[in-house]
Amino acid sequence: MDLLDTVEDYHSRAASILPSNAYEYISGAAGRSQTLQLNRTSYDRIRIRPRELVNVERRQLSSTLLGMNFDMPVGISPTALHRLAHADGELATARAAEKMRIPYVLSMFVSTSIEQVAQAAPAGIKWMQLYLYKDRRISEAVVRRAEQAGFKAVVLTIDNPVNEDKIIESGDLNFAADFNASTTWTDVEWLISITTLPIIVKGVMTKEDALRAVKIGVNAIIVSNHGGRQLDSVSATIEVLPDIVAAVQGKVPIIIDGGVTKGTDIFKALAMGANMVFIGRAPLWGLTVNGQAGVEEILRLLQRELDNTMALAGCRTVEEITKDQVLHEAQYCLTSLVTFGQK
Ligand SMILES: Cc1cc2nc3c(=O)[nH]c(=O)nc-3n(C[C@H](O)[C@H](O)[C@H](O)COP(=O)(O)O)c2cc1C
Repeated sequence: MDLLDTVEDYHSRAASILPSNAYEYISGAAGRSQTLQLNRTSYDRIRIRPRELVNVERRQLSSTLLGMNFDMPVGISPTALHRLAHADGELATARAAEKMRIPYVLSMFVSTSIEQVAQAAPAGIKWMQLYLYKDRRISEAVVRRAEQAGFKAVVLTIDNPVNEDKIIESGDLNFAADFNASTTWTDVEWLISITTLPIIVKGVMTKEDALRAVKIGVNAIIVSNHGGRQLDSVSATIEVLPDIVAAVQGKVPIIIDGGVTKGTDIFKALAMGANMVFIGRAPLWGLTVNGQAGVEEILRLLQRELDNTMALAGCRTVEEITKDQVLHEAQYCLTSLVTFGQK
């Protein structure tokens, strides 16, 4: 049997285990998968600039967001129906996140109940993902259940006024039907007004929307294009991150997801101003291969890779990862053109 050394190894193994419809659902993307591919390849266009001869004997990956402490700056994005990947479903993923002390965002399209997930991982930090429906009572009921079950934040997904994601059905909350194409920022204001939980908006891809979100009082932003599953041909998330970071000016924390499969990707996103980096499909590959232990293996693998990248780049803490440690490949082209022109 092949060794499982990288997220891509887990992906390949999961592809050989999953029934084809489940594999297609998880790996699939909108349109011609341009954004899906861009999410991945855009990381490869960014180069790391290491600092040598820094004493990196002691390293710390811990990070804090909205007053919550985590063992590394990585979290699990909401993905629907984990029981497609493994019989233990969301319970396994939640337990793995609890053990690794990282945040887990439970999708509103769960294949287990919110309360069962809370019971399975009582000490884990869990956030509840939400879609807004025409009937606000549906969304409000989910918020109340999440509050009751001890969830620590609400993640409102805003990038699918119409649903391109091929949701099959939800075991617990049968909401697969009507997405609310009439949702606006006023609904986000309403959401902020009905709960004391922090509100995190997921699906911001422009500085204009980021500024709007900050203005109405959201607590954090997730730069996300839904893993390329909604509007094909939008930019990669890592491409738009610098613009959003510059506009937000540290007023709220910024999380990014999309295309992250390596420790170096996490390093690059942090260097470009993200406070945390989330992963969607990667934990599902681990879950498919080995249930809870498989999700933990994915998280440990990324933790090792990030730690190793930090050591080799001369960073002892997450805060020491700064933007002068990355450069886009286009910059090298420009520099060499200028230098060449001077000769
Ligand atoms: C199978 C699958 C189901 C998803 N379901 C949801 C969902 O229910 N709610 C949501 O906000 N995002 C959902 N997403 C998007 C993820 O939260 C995340 O933005 C995306 O997977 C990140 O990209 P990555 O898979 O390349 O890491 C889903 C993604 C996948 C792959």
